Amino acid sequence: MRRNLLYGKVGIDFLDGFIHSTMNELLINDGADSSGLYGFYAARVSSRHGGILEYEEDLARYVLKHCSNRRIVEIGTGLGELPIILALNGLVTAGLEYEHRRLQAATAMRTRLANCFPEISKCYQLIDGAYPEALANTTWIGSDVTLLFTNVGAGWDTDRTGRAIDFFSHVGEVILELRMFGTVRENETDRSELFKRIATRAASSEYLPDLSPRMHFARFRF
Ligand SMILES: C[S@@+](CC[C@H](N)C(=O)[O-])C[C@H]1O[C@@H](n2cnc3c(N)ncnc32)[C@H](O)[C@@H]1O
Repeated sequence: MRRNLLYGKVGIDFLDGFIHSTMNELLINDGADSSGLYGFYAARVSSRHGGILEYEEDLARYVLKHCSNRRIVEIGTGLGELPIILALNGLVTAGLEYEHRRLQAATAMRTRLANCFPEISKCYQLIDGAYPEALANTTWIGSDVTLLFTNVGAGWDTDRTGRAIDFFSHVGEVILELRMFGTVRENETDRSELFKRIATRAASSEYLPDLSPRMHFARFRF
């Protein structure tokens, strides 16, 4: 059975298979490192996890339900799975990525999708560069923009983390995973410190414990 997130839109199972098969093709053609998949995405293929992870589907469902009239940017988008799902379910989206080969793989994914779904060219854009500076001179700021952070536990230093949080005031809202924001926070005290640090600057803030099992999502409005 093909499951849809929204009736009449591109189904989640279809996209799971499509993204998985594109990853597999990139791996066959170029290998894990040259393709930009590296261990993170190569493992999805070898472990048969498919193209879309559970937390990505859960977050997509949440965003479609609660952020339906907003423009969405995923920071650290990797191959762009999340903005692709959202764009093919009616939202206007972008993915920001700073790793050159990853971005090339994301571009290949977008091109392959556009062959089947030409509308994706209008509603899904890739942005080359590092957050936050790469977003500053784009149209992807303003009160109608929601930033998503899923897994960017990439070892940011304190300066980048500070600038990342300062930048939130340029958009209307941020949904982020507290454990994997910039650096990995395994214990609850560290996650709660991050939540409070952002919440003091936000107009409102909430934990989203039911969004996805084992994840630590929170939502902040600015
Ligand atoms: C572990 S991958 C996760 C990809 C996808 N979001 C997911 O959850 O499956 C994290 C990605 O974020 C990118 N990234 C980390 N920090 C970034 C930054 N400051 N600006 C842009 N991209 C960043 C990395 O290059 C990497 O491709």
